[in-house]
This record gives sequence, structure tokens and C-alpha cells, in this order.
Amino acid sequence: MPSEDPAARSASASVGAAVAPPPAFAEQANVTAASLREEFAENWPACWERAADLLDWRDDYEAVLGGDGPPFRWFEGGSLNASYNCIDRHVEAGRKNQVALRWAGRLGESRAYTYLDLHREVNEFAAALRALGVEEGDIVTLYMPMIPELPVAMLACARIGAPHSVVFAGFSADALATRMESADSEYLVTCDGYYRRGTPVHQKSKADNARVELDHSVEATVVVDRLGDQPPLDDDEYDYERLVRQHHSATVDPVPRDAGDMLFLIHTSGTTGEPTGVRHTTGGYLAQTAWTARSVLDIKPEDTYWCSADIGWITGHSYIVYGPLALGATTMLYEGAPDYPEKDRVWELIERNAVDVFYTAPTAIRAFMKWGAEYPESHDLSSLRLLGTVGEPINPRAWKWYHEHIGNGECPVVDTWWQTETGAMMVTTLPGVDDMKPGSAGRPLPGISVEVVDEDGAPTDPGEAGYLTVDKPWPAMPLSMVEDTGWFADHEQGRPPLDRFDWAYFTEDAAAVDEDGYITLLGRVDDVINVSGHRFGTMEIESAITAVEGVAEAAVVGAPHDLKGEAIYAYVTPVNADDEATLRERIVAGVEDAIGPIAVPAGIVFTPDLPKTRSGKIMRRLLGAVARDDDLGDISALRNPEVIGELDPIPERED
Ligand code: WT7
Repeated sequence: MPSEDPAARSASASVGAAVAPPPAFAEQANVTAASLREEFAENWPACWERAADLLDWRDDYEAVLGGDGPPFRWFEGGSLNASYNCIDRHVEAGRKNQVALRWAGRLGESRAYTYLDLHREVNEFAAALRALGVEEGDIVTLYMPMIPELPVAMLACARIGAPHSVVFAGFSADALATRMESADSEYLVTCDGYYRRGTPVHQKSKADNARVELDHSVEATVVVDRLGDQPPLDDDEYDYERLVRQHHSATVDPVPRDAGDMLFLIHTSGTTGEPTGVRHTTGGYLAQTAWTARSVLDIKPEDTYWCSADIGWITGHSYIVYGPLALGATTMLYEGAPDYPEKDRVWELIERNAVDVFYTAPTAIRAFMKWGAEYPESHDLSSLRLLGTVGEPINPRAWKWYHEHIGNGECPVVDTWWQTETGAMMVTTLPGVDDMKPGSAGRPLPGISVEVVDEDGAPTDPGEAGYLTVDKPWPAMPLSMVEDTGWFADHEQGRPPLDRFDWAYFTEDAAAVDEDGYITLLGRVDDVINVSGHRFGTMEIESAITAVEGVAEAAVVGAPHDLKGEAIYAYVTPVNADDEATLRERIVAGVEDAIGPIAVPAGIVFTPDLPKTRSGKIMRRLLGAVARDDDLGDISALRNPEVIGELDPIPERED
């Protein structure tokens, strides 16, 4: 059974009145044809040629979608190189002096890379990776904060056909080891450390600890000197700066990759205890990413564009690196925090760099709202043309605040629904064409087909909550789905039957669709908690907690949180109830070690027992209801109903 009934969520959906696209924006929009959805629908899948046309192909593809699928071979027969598409062709087009990357560091530093600079450093680092033994197909793990060397390394990997696996810098040594192990990755690029709110974090020692844990050996580790105190390096460790210097002016021909070859691997949390590796393709992924960056974010080559996500997540891959660079724009990279040194940092950066398009997450918008409108008001934000959000539902109040206080009522706001698995945007509005409805993401993009279905797999009525399902393949689909020949045959028990579709992908999101086809997202239906737009599997956190000495059992649930959207709460049964304060500290340390500080529960509740069914399964749903202060519903299946009285409601919601 999906762990939660989507219908239970419908009450929380509220959508504001429609807002038409501002005429001044519509006039200049990249997409102005209101008929685009119909055109794509009538001409599917050939319509996706429009996206592929944004790229330079080494060998032309023979078919937009080869075969009847599965397997789904997008742009079959075509070959290309992502690094060439993101760099070389812009240099060749006479745009070598356009700024590709504008970096704002945590300590107030800034650096700009023109397309020519980026070309030089990517080539040099690609040559260095090759010299270290990296071959086409080898997976290179990148474990770095938001410094320019991260996108440089990604593009260098792409240049030589070595898929990268970026691991979020805030993850722990254990989490890095798990991801390197599952990818069988023998190359690592990291840094000595970085500053978090002025305090140094020792990234290299985390990387060292991860290496010790691995079953396989690491061939080479490259270390970027970010703090200026590069520790002594072993024989198999290399200083980034030195390597690049050693390969001064080297050039590396971009390796042609088949459209279906892997561009990168990224891990995400699902219902299992281990993170899942999602593999994205070179052709389909890049085509849809560039296409959506152009049609939804309205990026123009002359724009300065800022996505405030971390490159460690899919948003940063698609919409800091690949999408905007494929279009030849200037993409900003910000290393710091939004409120450091002051709460106007984001607005100051937008003003100083005359940012045209800004893409952020609802969790950030809620924080901006809380800090107050005086911060954006003290800056000139008139360079902004379009605003975007991603990662979690945005409530109409936050939407309107963003629209009014950041966009001055003149910028469209695109609420973009997509996932690590989808690779690129799937459901949102075309900003020059579609009305916006605050609180609703919008309609499926041209060429994308989704349906909201009920428990029986039948389409829901307007306004009724159901399961969001994608019922046609899309270019940026991950390799697991490309290759999946039996999606229905082995769909997990309890999922709605989807047999009436030729093919479908169950997104694990609840949603409702209105009369106009606008989709409102209602949250996950699986055991995944969305904290500030990031996914955490309850099982992953529970296994970190139960590994702590003194913990007998643990269950983790999500409950609403003013700033984070959802926060993690843990119900823990101690072996003995003596010293809760010490145990609490050990649990915090245990989660930090296993995953990282971002997965530490906002609340830990000790309880002598957890609610269980007669067969002994923990009733997480009930705990979730307790944490959310909801009606507990039917508790007749409980073996130990008396425990309910013992469960303290969640403590004060910290941070
Ligand atoms: C989950 C995917 C895609 C980049 C960031 C997250 C939620 C994402 C929206 C939105 C409501 C959203 C969904 C989805 N989500 N965008 N605009 N409105 N919910 O990627 O970590 O793979 O998480 O984020 O629940 O399934 P991710």
C-alpha cells in the first residue's frame, strides 16, 4: 500500500485566483504560441525535435524516439558531447567573452569565467583527469561545495565521457562512502574544506574517512585548495591547481557520446534504506533541460540567471549547470547562505549582478517573508524579468509575496514540478502564454502527458486528490526507465493498477487537477519526507538512529514546519530510560555521521513503546497523525492502543 491515502491531503489544497502573464513579459517571451501544447500533442513524439534542435549534434539522430519502446531510445543514432554544447559552440559562435559563470564566494570573494576561461580550464582539467587514468565510462565522484571547480569538473567529466556522481558537500563520510560504493567509483574530486557561516568544515577529512570505509580502492583523489591550507597530500592525491597548471593550454577533443549514454549519476532517497542511483542520459536529458530552461525560465543568451539551489541536488545539475550553459547564458554560483552576513544578501547579489531570472525554493521564500519585505525593498530589483520556484508546494500566500515583493507584480512566477527522476521540468506554466494560479503548478508542459488517478487507476474528478502519474515517456527520463521493459509486471504491490496505459511512471506524489487541467501537488505518498525541498527516506534515517547504542526502536515521520515545509520527527524507544539527554546527543551525532547535519530530526520524542499492528509493524501513519496533531482515525488494527496515551506530542519546533 502506498503509505498514505492521497485523499487525506485534499483539504490542504488551496489555489488563488488566476493571474494573466504580464503583457510586457509576453511580448518578449521565448515561447509565445498559445497553441504549442496542441502542436506537440498532435505531433508526438516528433515534436521533441524542437528540443533537440537547441543542441549541436555530432551525428544526427535517425529517430526522435526509436522503436515502440520500452526500451525508449530518445534521439536514436544521434551522438553529441555535453561539454561541447555547453562551452565550445558558444566560443565558436563568437561569444568567447560572454561571462559563463559568475561566482560569489562565502567570504565575499567573486570570480567570473568567460566562455573562453571555462573552455580553457575544462580542457585542462579534462586532460588532467585523463592523465590520472580516468577513461570513458568511469564514474568520477565530485564532493565539493558551491565553488567554480565543481561545474568545471562536471564539464571536464562530460568532455571525456566519464559520468560524474556529485555528492552533496554537506553529506557525511558514511554517505559519501555508500554512494561511491554503489557507483563503484574509483576517482574522487574534493576540497580541503569550506566555510559554513564563518566556521570551517573539513571536507578532506570526511573524504579520507569515506575512503577507509570503501571495499574498493580509490585510484586518485584530487583536492581543491579552498581554505588556503591544503593539508599534505599522499601519493595518490593531487592538488587541483597544480594539476591544471601541469596541463596548461592542453586541449581535449570532446568525446562523442550516444544520445542514450550516461551523462551523470545522482543519488536520491526513496522508500528503501539505501539511496537510489538515478542515471541520466546525454541526449534526452540535455535536450529537455535546455528546452525547459528556454521555454519555462525564458533564459536568453545575454541573461544573467541565478538558481539558488546547490549543485549537489538535481536542480543544480539541470538549472545551474547544463540548462543555462547549453543556452550560452551567464549562470551565477553562490556559495554562501541567504542571510550571511545580512538578511539582504540575496537581494544585494541580484542588484549588483543585475540578475534577469531568479529560481529558488518555497522554503527560501518563506524565510524571506519571515525576515521581512524591508530587505528586498532596500534594493533595486528592477532587473528581474521572471521568477521561479521548485522543490515543494508553494502556498498562495508565499506565491503572492514573491510575486509582489520580489517581482514587483511584473514578473511571472513559474512553479515548476519535477523530480530527480524526471531530470527536467514536467508540469508548470509557459510564462508568456499561460495564466498562473498561485498554489497550482500548472499544466503538463508541451509533449508531457500526465494523469491523476484514483486507487483503481481511473482518472480522478476535478478537485479530487489522487496519484500523479506520467503516462508517456519523456526525453529526460532516466536510464532505469528507458531500459525498463516490465514497468507494469512488477509494479509494487498496492499501487493503483495502471494497466490501461501502454506505459506509465508512478511519481509517488499526490495531486489534484482542476477543470482547466491545472495540477496542484499535495505531497509525497511514500515514506519520503521533503525537508526544504530535499528528499529524505524515513528508512535511511531510522537505520541511522537504530544503529545508535541505547536505542531499541525508532520511527521517523514528517510533519508540517513553518519554514522547512516538512520537518523530520523521530519517535524513539530507548533500551532503558535513564539518560535521555545523552541519548539524544548520541542520536544527533549518529544521524550526522550516517547522513549529515541536514537529516537531523527537528524533534526527538522518547516513548516506552511504538504503536504496532498485530503483526508487529510500526504504524507510522499513526505517528504522523500524532506529530501533525491530526485525527488519529481508525486505530482498531493496533496491538497496543494504550501506547497512544503515552505518545507526547512533538516538542517545540526548533530551528
Ligand atoms: C519531489 C522531488 C525537482 C527538483 C527538486 C526536488 C516535490 C518538486 C515541486 C513543486 C510541489 C514539488 C515532489 C517531488 N516537488 N517540485 N513545484 N510543487 N512539489 O527534487 O529531491 O527529486 O524531489 O519534490 O514531491 O516528488 P527531488
